[in-house]
Amino acid sequence: MKVAVITETDPGEPRVAATPETVKKLVGLGAEVAVEPGAGLKSGVLDADYAAAGAKVASDAVSGADVVLKVRRPSANELAGYKKGALVIAIMDPYGNEAALKQIADAGLVAFAMELMPRITRAQSMDVLSSQANLAGYRAVIDAAEEYGRALPMMMTAAGTVPAAKVFIMGVGVAGLQAIATARRLGAIVTATDVRPATKEQVESLGAKFLAVEDEEFKNAQTAGGYAKEMSKEYLTKQAALVAEHIKKQDIVITTALIPGRPAPKLVSKEMVASMRPGSVIVDLAVERGGNVEGARPGEIAQVGPAKIVGYLNVPGRLAASASALYAKNLLTFLETLIDKKEKKLAINWDDELVKGTLLTRDGAIVHPNFKPKAA
Ligand code: NAI
Repeated sequence: MKVAVITETDPGEPRVAATPETVKKLVGLGAEVAVEPGAGLKSGVLDADYAAAGAKVASDAVSGADVVLKVRRPSANELAGYKKGALVIAIMDPYGNEAALKQIADAGLVAFAMELMPRITRAQSMDVLSSQANLAGYRAVIDAAEEYGRALPMMMTAAGTVPAAKVFIMGVGVAGLQAIATARRLGAIVTATDVRPATKEQVESLGAKFLAVEDEEFKNAQTAGGYAKEMSKEYLTKQAALVAEHIKKQDIVITTALIPGRPAPKLVSKEMVASMRPGSVIVDLAVERGGNVEGARPGEIAQVGPAKIVGYLNVPGRLAASASALYAKNLLTFLETLIDKKEKKLAINWDDELVKGTLLTRDGAIVHPNFKPKAA
């Protein structure tokens, strides 16, 4: 069983799909691991660290590999080097990218999308959305603090008192919860909002104040899968009125609101941005999915009236070493379920719900029900 770890070709991607720790585990499972030179450099891992963990470092790592571990979906150019029938496990970003999926299918690869992992207890340790969103939520607060021209905690000094910053978190999923916890640790006064009622208690248990339009629609806003529904126009109008009053008094706003398979909801209008105090900072973590904030620009920090709107892309990548460590562990845990540990070889149970949930392509075709070409 040959496993390859590939250097990411996207210049905006500093993460890597394996760490010396996961390489060691893979070797223990009977794998021959080959790592492309420099694959871990941007995550602080040297070739020598991989070699010490038992990997071969080679520029032809991918050739003959049975399993290819990646962070991002392989590009058409990369596919040329892959062995037919090889497994490719990565964050595949499949929505709207059916053409790229077809190329992977045409190359005869068996592709798994880690972000489609079912959110069940057994798969928690393989949940890349959670592991990466958690870090993004933390980093959003750090990025906000960096752009903010004042201190976050209250400071009583001989020269006077610095008031605590007011931080408002919009969207309390994995990223939002970590943002609340981080802002609280830094001493800010934190409020948060979400459309799912379950979040109220979570917000309060972190010592923040919950703010939301708690009407009938709110009571039913959570899907069976634990995600938010797309809210009605009427709800969004009521929510906007509440937020508009609140946001005027905030120093930092961090938005993380997403709806699976839909564009991010627009939560902060340009009027709301204009109503903020000079020096305010907004971090839009949803910017890659269309953004929660009007005026947010992907990959940029935009000064819009009184506020800076931070729109960094790939925020987990801004903590590449930590993000890689967690991502690599997610991959390893999933790969372990595809291996017969006694025989030390791949043994995929195609009926396993983790396999069914994540499998995109097999035998030359796109097989995932969400992305399969529709029958004419
Ligand atoms: P997400 O990234 O899809 O969305 C982030 C947040 O935005 C969610 O809390 C959502 O309710 C909120 N949102 C959507 N529309 C909004 C609006 N109009 N206004 C305000 N907020 C809005 O969510 P994430 O982080 O993936 O978590 C979703 C749920 O899944 C959570 O309940 C989480 O606890 C649960 N979960 C379960 C896991 C498991 O059982 N293995 C693992 C990870 C998360």
